[in-house]
Amino acid sequence: MVSTGARQGAGAPRAVEPARTAIHGGPTGGSARESVTGGIVAISGAAAAVDLTVDLAPTRGGLVLANPILVASGTFGYGIEYGDVVEVGRLGAICCKGTTLRPRIGNPTPRVSETPGGMLNSIGLQNPGVDAVVERYAPLWATWRTPVIVNIAAESVADYAEIARRLDGVPGVAGIELNISCPNVGRGGLQFAIDESAAGAVTAAVRRATDLPLLVKLSPNVADVRPIARAIAAAGADALTAINTLSGIAVSADRRRPLLGNVFGGLSGPAVKPVALRVVYEVRQVVDIPIVAIGGVTELADVLDFLAVGAVAVQVGTAIFADPALPVRLVGQLAEAAARAGHASYRPFIGTALPAKPGVPSAKGVEYRP
Ligand SMILES: Cc1cc2nc3c(=O)[nH]c(=O)nc-3n(C[C@H](O)[C@H](O)[C@H](O)COP(=O)(O)O)c2cc1C
Repeated sequence: MVSTGARQGAGAPRAVEPARTAIHGGPTGGSARESVTGGIVAISGAAAAVDLTVDLAPTRGGLVLANPILVASGTFGYGIEYGDVVEVGRLGAICCKGTTLRPRIGNPTPRVSETPGGMLNSIGLQNPGVDAVVERYAPLWATWRTPVIVNIAAESVADYAEIARRLDGVPGVAGIELNISCPNVGRGGLQFAIDESAAGAVTAAVRRATDLPLLVKLSPNVADVRPIARAIAAAGADALTAINTLSGIAVSADRRRPLLGNVFGGLSGPAVKPVALRVVYEVRQVVDIPIVAIGGVTELADVLDFLAVGAVAVQVGTAIFADPALPVRLVGQLAEAAARAGHASYRPFIGTALPAKPGVPSAKGVEYRP
C-alpha cells in the first residue's frame, strides 16, 4: 500500500490545516508578517504563497508532506503527548518513538544526562511493541492530516521485516523509518548501521515486506558513511534520514563512576550539528534519494544550513524538550524567509553549499579524517 500525506483523514481534533493551506492572507503582494500565539503560527502576506510541500518518496507514488519540518523519533512520543501545546496538524510529519516487535522496558536508570550543547540519553527503546502501537495509536493517526512515520528497531533482519509486515496497510501509518543503530545479533553484536552489507540487507528485507514509503536512518558512528548510504539506496530505500545520536558516556562527578545506568548513551543537540551537516553534505553527493537532516536544530538558521548542504527536510529533536512549539514556529519562519528572498517555494535554499563538482574534493575542501 502506498501512503501519502494527502490521503490522511480530516484532521486531529486539535489540528488545523497544514502550513500551505492554513496560512492566511492573499496569495500575492504585501510583506510577510507572522504572529505567534501559544505556539500557533499565522502567516500573512507574501509568505502565504510560498510552496513548502516536499515529497519524501518521489519514485514510489509519494509521501507528500505539507512542509519540510518534522519531529524526530524519541522526542515527540506518539504525537499526542504535546497535543495541548503544539498544533500537531501544522507539522510536516511526526516520527514516532522507536517501535520494536515486542514491548521493551528500556535501560536501567539514570537514562538522561545534560552535556554542554546537548544531552546524552540511554532510554533503550522503551515502547509497548508494534501490535500495541497499531491498536492504540494508528486509529487516531488515521484521522490526522499530519502523516505519522513509524520508527522501527530490531536486533535481527527477520524481526525488522516482521515489524514492517505488521505495519503494512495499517491506516494511519504513512511510512517507516528504520533505526538501524541496533546490534545485529546474527553478526556478533555488530550494528547494522556501521556495516554496508548489513545495512543493505536489512533495508532490502524491509523493502520486500512492505510497500510503505521507507526512510533509513544513518548513524554518524562510522569512519565513512558514504558506502553505507549507497548500499541503503541501492536496496530500495525511498529516503535517508541523518543523523542518529553519537555514541558517548558521562562520568558521575561525585561517584567517579559511569553516570548512565547503561554506561553508553547517545549524544544529541546543538553539539552534534556540525557532524550532521558533514554527513548530509557527503551523502548528498553519492545518492539521489531525498535526505532528511537531523541534529541540533534549534532555530531557522539551522534549518537553512541543512537545506544548503542538500537536505530537503529537517527533523527537530532534543530542542523540543525545552521548546515544544519550536517545530511549528519554524514552519512559518521558513515560509517567511523564502518570501523575503523573493522565492515562490523554499526549494531554492536546497544545495547551495554543495561543491560544483559532486564528490571531487577541491583544493579548499580536503576532508578532515583524524
Ligand atoms: C530521548 C531521545 C530518544 C530517542 N529515541 C530515538 C528512537 O527511538 N529512534 C531513533 O531512531 N532515534 C531516536 N533518537 C534520536 C533522535 O531522533 C535524533 O536522531 C537525535 O536526537 C539527533 O537530533 P537532535 O540533535 O535534534 O536531537 C532519540 C533521541 C533522544 C534525545
